[in-house]
Amino acid sequence: MKEQLDGLLQAALKEIDGAGNEEALQELRIKYLGKKGELTAVMKGLGSLSATERPVVGQMANAVKDQLESRLEEKLTQVRDANKREKLQRERLDVTLPGRRLPYGSKHPITLVIEEISEIFAGLGFQVAEGPEVELDFYNFEALNFPKDHPARDMQDTFFVDDSILLRTHTSPVQVRTMLKHAPPVRIISPGTVYRCDSDATHSPMFHQIEGFMVDTGVTFGDLKGVLTTFLTQYFGKGIGVRLRPSFFPFTEPSAEVDIACVMCRGKGCRVCKQSGWLEILGAGMIDPEVYRHVGYDPETISGFAFGMGIERVAMLKYGIGDLRLFFDNDVRFLQQF
Ligand code: FA5
Ligand code: MG
Repeated sequence: MKEQLDGLLQAALKEIDGAGNEEALQELRIKYLGKKGELTAVMKGLGSLSATERPVVGQMANAVKDQLESRLEEKLTQVRDANKREKLQRERLDVTLPGRRLPYGSKHPITLVIEEISEIFAGLGFQVAEGPEVELDFYNFEALNFPKDHPARDMQDTFFVDDSILLRTHTSPVQVRTMLKHAPPVRIISPGTVYRCDSDATHSPMFHQIEGFMVDTGVTFGDLKGVLTTFLTQYFGKGIGVRLRPSFFPFTEPSAEVDIACVMCRGKGCRVCKQSGWLEILGAGMIDPEVYRHVGYDPETISGFAFGMGIERVAMLKYGIGDLRLFFDNDVRFLQQF
């Protein structure tokens, strides 16, 4: 029995030393120490021994078991360490590999145009002001001399929250808000989102305007024309075709609308300019005395001009885009080009 145990121990140790991986070691554990293992079989046979032999052989068998277990453990650790080292070697970080670039987003063309326009006006001494998109009827209409039920309101139909609260139809309410807070002189631009019941290739229900106005002593229509021409030539370049048409706004007198030669057809007439060769980009005029009365300015001592420019129209002309709705489809193939 002793010899049998000895032989078993030697054979098992040899096999353990020769095992190259975790699975092989697991198999050896089963082969010798498992329920039907070789050592287990020897231990089960102890019962047939005499009472004097049993404790001696039993002790030996236990010693063999301990030895096998500790050797298995030792070898397992070795094998695992070796695996880890080999893996680290294989997966070593190669700092010379080029990195994976994260795709950049880019600014929306409307944001770009607002920034470019604001910069030019900043150069002319205009400061930026902001107003709310959900606006009171008073600022959007009443104080701008659109009385309730006046037909001029029809051109600017919008979403009403209730009788006196609406989504603003233009950036002009910022004129009133600013003048109520600041005494003249003021020189302000105010970009922002506005809303109307409109939809076609050159009209969107949600669009952007930039309001500009200047109030001081002795401001004339010539100043308005000078500022607008300076802006337009800076933004579009010298050759740009510009025309002023007489127009009407309840809050300016006289009033004008400014058109730019259609870049899609170069003035020949197309779908975008509705065959006219021109695209309207802004409304403007000398601020009406009625507005000054609403904000407590004295129309006898001061004067000023105001304009409201459509950003999408400017962006269409700047980038040669034939349909304004493309700005809001959010197609990345379109947006990636800016
Ligand atoms: C106004 O909104 C006036 N508040 C402008 C103004 C300001 C006049 C200060 C006098 C003094 P109008 O409705 O024409 O005016 O709009 C101004 C510009 O916004 C238009 O010339 C056009 O470029 C743009 N616009 C108007 N409606 C839309 C629309 N639905 N979608 C895109 N752009 C539009
Ligand atoms: Mg207009």
